[in-house]
Amino acid sequence: MIAAGVALEKILACPRCHGGLERLPGALACGTPGCGFRGVIADGIVNALPTAAGPSFFDATYPVMMHSSSGPSRLVFYSQQAAALRERLAGARLVLDVGCGPRLEYERPPASVVIGLDLSYESLRHNTDVDVRLYGSATSLPLPAGSIDAIVCFYSLHHLVGQTVHENEALLRAALREFARVLKPGADLLVFEVAPWWPAWTVQRLAWNLARRKLGRSLDMFFWRRQTLTALASELLPPGTRLEYRAIRIPPFTVFPFAFALQRLRLPRLFYPFAISMYDWRVGQNRVRSR
Ligand SMILES: C[S@@+](CC[C@H](N)C(=O)[O-])C[C@H]1O[C@@H](n2cnc3c(N)ncnc32)[C@H](O)[C@@H]1O
Ligand SMILES: [Zn+2]
Repeated sequence: MIAAGVALEKILACPRCHGGLERLPGALACGTPGCGFRGVIADGIVNALPTAAGPSFFDATYPVMMHSSSGPSRLVFYSQQAAALRERLAGARLVLDVGCGPRLEYERPPASVVIGLDLSYESLRHNTDVDVRLYGSATSLPLPAGSIDAIVCFYSLHHLVGQTVHENEALLRAALREFARVLKPGADLLVFEVAPWWPAWTVQRLAWNLARRKLGRSLDMFFWRRQTLTALASELLPPGTRLEYRAIRIPPFTVFPFAFALQRLRLPRLFYPFAISMYDWRVGQNRVRSR
């Protein structure tokens, strides 16, 4: 369902050319001559992929995400994070949740419209917490420039993976460029991720290409260390953007699974070589570079 009173053609744009969209029965069509984009609306979900594609790898992964808010995972990955989000989202009118999964794990700000974007059709079908459900990718957002008050990425950036570490970085760069394009001046980009410490980062970086060749799509994660993610963000987000970083503290003997897909692999916090991280990038009010 698309929430009553939400005019899709007013808040969305063409994912190919960013031009305006026209509402047709059961679809949105780009008004730019020669573009030809047409996004079908079915099951209350807008197909916002820029090009026709086969089913996405993530279509079938929603059962994994149903574990995310249960047991110790909630305590470690969502409780403190959701509390921090409450104050940071206060007053936001138009919120984009990138990789929203089957439900929101945080309180929506009052009087807001929340757009949920995901590459998992099944997750979107189950997600009744968002007002607009978009089947699409972080790397080509179907939104106009300077239109969004806050973007939330809850454990989705590490899923932007290609065949090599080099491709992973290209996808992350594409997503950050898109975030920079659609955020309003003064808006927040709120990212929750785990950030490997240096030894774990080095092992992942060196072994990832080979592991991906051997394991294929089942290796669907690449975790960014804090220094690399913040360096890319400061290169690609608008000038004047400021970062507030917070490491989420968890008691050392809290036992939890490292990945939602690996519920049986549980270790105490003490043994995990990563920081549980919150990044809040606030876009500068003045986007013009002073130097
Ligand atoms: C680990 S889940 C997190 C779901 C939810 N945010 C949560 O924390 O419970 C990551 C989500 O990112 C989605 N995803 C993967 N690649 C994506 C992309 N390129 N654009 C948007 N979402 C993507 C997956 O389908 C999945 O639902
Ligand atoms: Zn277009």
